[in-house]
Amino acid sequence: MAGLFISLEGIEGAGKSTLIQKMIAYFEAAGKEVLLTREPGGSELGQKLRSIILNAEEKICPAAELFLFLADRAEHVESCIKPALAQEKVVLCDRFIDSTVAYQGYGRGMDVKQLQMLNERAAGGLKPDLTIILDLDPEIGLARANARNKAENLTIREGRFEAEALEFHQKIRAGFLALSKEEKRFFVVDAKQNAEAVFADVCKKLQSFL
Ligand code: TYD
Repeated sequence: MAGLFISLEGIEGAGKSTLIQKMIAYFEAAGKEVLLTREPGGSELGQKLRSIILNAEEKICPAAELFLFLADRAEHVESCIKPALAQEKVVLCDRFIDSTVAYQGYGRGMDVKQLQMLNERAAGGLKPDLTIILDLDPEIGLARANARNKAENLTIREGRFEAEALEFHQKIRAGFLALSKEEKRFFVVDAKQNAEAVFADVCKKLQSFL
């Protein structure tokens, strides 16, 4: 398939949104058409699923949570990502398969190998060409995320994972770092740096894809 598929991963508050805006400008300046999308919630069905999944007041058991993320992914890949790649677009996806392994696997304790098989099924075998992991100490990330949620009034509506203890986020960070050693598509960036330095690191990597 033509096009370029990049996913962005990391714990809460690692600075994905800021980086993504800079990446969009970078690709557009190079004459590329960009689709910015996210999980959960990238498709029409996904938007409905997102409001259920991330609502901290909705009681959902871990298996149901997993299958909601996978349902979101299956629809998203089929209805949005694959068509955009076929049109040679650059697809920037805020979270993808690796969030399931990090959050439901390393975070919730589900079997990582099984999750990787389910991911493959849900994504129809599609994997990103490049996955950027913004690596950050969760103490810093959570403080940033809480400040943002407060400013945007998101405390309850989308707070399911922010509400988890620090230890949960430490497991997720460790999960992303373990994953990064498994495949060549990963690129880990030190997200403690300021936004400009993070983007400069990412740019060096992106050059090889243009
Ligand atoms: P979101 O508000 O998009 O978080 P962020 O701004 O940090 O990207 O919420 C997505 C949340 O869902 C985030 O906490 C990670 C979690 N998640 C999973 O647990 N499993 C998954 O497969 C995906 C895609 C996300």
